[in-house]
Amino acid sequence: MTAMSTSAEAAVTRTAASFEVGTAVLDAIAGDFAVQIARGLVGEGGSLKMLRTFTRQPSGRERGRVVVVDWGGTKARAGLVELGGGGSARIVAEEALTFPDAMKRGAPEPVFDLIARVVGRVARAEGLGAAPLAFVYSYPARLERLDRAVALASTKGWRLQGLVGRDVAEMLTAALERAGLARIRLAAVANDTVAALVLRSYQVRGREAEASPAAIGLILGTGTNLAADLGPAGIRNLESGNFDGVAGVETPYDAALDRDLDEPPPGAQRFEKMVSGHYLGEILRRALVDLGRGPGGFRWSAAPALATPFGLDSAHLSRIAADRTAGLDDVGALLRSLGVESTPAERHGVHALAAAVARRSARLVAAALLGTLRFLDPRLDDRRTIAVDGSLWGGYPGFEGLVRGTLAELVGPARAGRVEIAFVKDSTSAGAAVIAAAAAAQRSEGCSSA
Ligand code: BGC
Repeated sequence: MTAMSTSAEAAVTRTAASFEVGTAVLDAIAGDFAVQIARGLVGEGGSLKMLRTFTRQPSGRERGRVVVVDWGGTKARAGLVELGGGGSARIVAEEALTFPDAMKRGAPEPVFDLIARVVGRVARAEGLGAAPLAFVYSYPARLERLDRAVALASTKGWRLQGLVGRDVAEMLTAALERAGLARIRLAAVANDTVAALVLRSYQVRGREAEASPAAIGLILGTGTNLAADLGPAGIRNLESGNFDGVAGVETPYDAALDRDLDEPPPGAQRFEKMVSGHYLGEILRRALVDLGRGPGGFRWSAAPALATPFGLDSAHLSRIAADRTAGLDDVGALLRSLGVESTPAERHGVHALAAAVARRSARLVAAALLGTLRFLDPRLDDRRTIAVDGSLWGGYPGFEGLVRGTLAELVGPARAGRVEIAFVKDSTSAGAAVIAAAAAAQRSEGCSSA
């Protein structure tokens, strides 16, 4: 094995250790999270928006066909979902679209027109005339009704000109009309966290009417966020990516990343910038570039993937973590594909750093979950279910184990054992369909009881 110098190895160890967040600090972060939930709910400010969702827990008996638009990242999807009651949801048709980078900073109308065109293709292929539509808009938005959502800040690298302050439901409706699809009527706007929570509740209640619904919805993918059922306060969208109680544990790489980005601007989405898939590769890249400046290793700063911001992504981290060979052969192959020839010692260094970045993400996520759980039930006496979806959670080997392990470390195995974590893969479209169908059912119950 080609060795790195002792000082280079020590630098790797030191850098990896800088991503470690100890138990007491995590506990304090969880406490702060719970306090900020309370403050956000009574409108006392704080970094958690606690947005209303106008969504109630489903009965599990919802039925019908719902057109769904899912827009929450570089890609979007339009599809048709069929709810059969009894917890069943079937995606009948689905088409994905990718937004060109330039579109992310332009006017909003072309984005909505592109989405409407794909809705049109799905509708024609399925022979659909009139149908309700559920719109998953996975960015901060202040709902004023289930079908009115005013865009707040942008996240995940988007900055559409003049979007903030406008009703995204109205904009999608206008685009559908322009596309000749006026009979496809927007019935609900929802965040992806709420869709995950509601889908899980629909699934369990569909099988057993008295089953407890999910208490929390978590997305950990490109971005991150939580929704929670707060009883009398309803299901709220926390927009937890904006939680700022993590500033005390940032490394110099986090601080520089926060400073260098114009969207989300410095100070915004601090939690998301340390935790979610959009940023983990970039944190690792910055650490590697920095270590390359020191003695004895990682002299790859000219390699395009390392020289370019966001040249590494969280799928790279997942692949690095999945390599169990002694010589980290696949890490070597991955680096080669990025234009880097590495020594085995360097590969071990990359492996350790990537693992440290992902481990910190999982531990901070556990702290945010614990803050939410404690707000609901300070002693964690009752069983609660967290519905989770997202590419980082689903794609990074062992992520769930890291989160579970951290919860047990923080509250002990007995209390942690009362927390059920349910991975609801591809929950967004199906969950949104349930939200629209549940709202329709509640409306008709309202009419018949009036
Ligand atoms: C958005 C949230 C969304 C989360 C996960 C964040 O960037 O602000 O609304 O739920 O990403 O997609």
